[in-house]
Amino acid sequence: MTRRKGRADRSPSPPPAPLGPNELAIDEIVARHRHLAGPLLPILHAVQERFGYLPPEGAARIAHGLNLSAAEVHGVITFYHDFRTRPPGRHVLRICRAEACQAMGSDALTADVQARLRVEMKGTTADGRVTLEPVYCLGNCALSPAVMIDGRLHGRVTADAVERWLAEADR
Ligand code: FES
Repeated sequence: MTRRKGRADRSPSPPPAPLGPNELAIDEIVARHRHLAGPLLPILHAVQERFGYLPPEGAARIAHGLNLSAAEVHGVITFYHDFRTRPPGRHVLRICRAEACQAMGSDALTADVQARLRVEMKGTTADGRVTLEPVYCLGNCALSPAVMIDGRLHGRVTADAVERWLAEADR
């Protein structure tokens, strides 16, 4: 006697959920870079440039596009300091923590800036004004310690100067 299948077995599988605008934009970025040798890092950079951070749906879409596991993509995202997984504040302050800057006081500069802004490294001030990030050499070693504020490079930096540049950036 043939066993009848239950009702649930006969129902068609639900259609895949339509992709949202973020997912479509990420798919487009993946398609543009897929031909590269080692496309993952350029794709992650391009997605971060587009959104300011890597949105939560990013890892899954990139993994799908490159035929990788989401864990592989996530591992790369967490390995590199360059990538952020939350939207940044209105300004991004990156303090160089590499050797030449350390020798010229970047530890003290970092501590002073953190105390003034009341922000942890890799955190954002409570008012959403500034995101503080470490960076490992900005190519400005001769003018250590160096920082970058909203993509603009500064050398021989003091905490007073950082405050002044941030105030200027607010205008
Ligand atoms: S070590 Fe800081 S800019 Fe090179």
